[in-house]
Amino acid sequence: MAEVIVVENEDAAGELVAGAIRELITARPEAVLGLATGSTPLPVYRAFARSLAARPLDVSRVRGFSLDEYVGLPDGHRESYRAVISRDVVAPLGLTPGRIRVPSGDPAGLPTAGADYEQAIVDAGGVDLQLLGIGRTGHLGFNEPGSSFASLTRVKTLTPQTRADNARFFDSPAEVPIHCITQGLGTIMRARHLVLLAFGHGKATAIAAAVEGPVTSSQPGSAIQLHPHVTVVVDEAAAGRLTNLDYFRYAWANKPAWQGI
Ligand code: F6R
Repeated sequence: MAEVIVVENEDAAGELVAGAIRELITARPEAVLGLATGSTPLPVYRAFARSLAARPLDVSRVRGFSLDEYVGLPDGHRESYRAVISRDVVAPLGLTPGRIRVPSGDPAGLPTAGADYEQAIVDAGGVDLQLLGIGRTGHLGFNEPGSSFASLTRVKTLTPQTRADNARFFDSPAEVPIHCITQGLGTIMRARHLVLLAFGHGKATAIAAAVEGPVTSSQPGSAIQLHPHVTVVVDEAAAGRLTNLDYFRYAWANKPAWQGI
């Protein structure tokens, strides 16, 4: 069963997860981070930036692999995940730009982009800690319902629901690309530690399905049940549909401090 930690708010989630990232990099300066985009991981990046400002740490050797990218956005589009990662992660944390990768959504390179990306992750020694959000469709990365648990980085079609959910980042819903390139569920499952965050009532159904529902590709988030080290960090609203909530609170309250998350 995944560990579920219910926190008071997004800031508390950010502090908790940023602390774990700090510990990882302190122990392993060449740590490989799995980066996510969207709104959910922002409190983590902000908390880690605050932590670095208060107590400097050498992050110059950290490597990073982002989960996904839209296909076909013009080069430099401010909502391309390459631009978002550079603006929200690389710059504020002071990471080394050449060590942070985002899959290429350039239509010309798509036939080989997935295999290249997989090889780069393998060459880096695999991902140590993978940050994840979850879509209202239950997607991890952009692996929409039906995605194989064995899938690797490849092109996928976004559901109308996901395009509507992400329209808030664009000038008009029609501007949200239909296609994306995303790490597969199989890629994500190779990371050594998965940290899934979710906030708000809109994520409660997807979180319950991921943590407690049947393991099924119809709920891509449920793949986490097959992973040996998963931490799910949620606020009360996103935790609202969990059946075993009392047990999760009890386990967290009694967790030996040395175990970390
Ligand atoms: C983003 C990603 C997606 C998002 C998910 C939730 O890189 O892979 O799975 O995590 O769509 O998005 P937000 O956080 O904006 O609710």
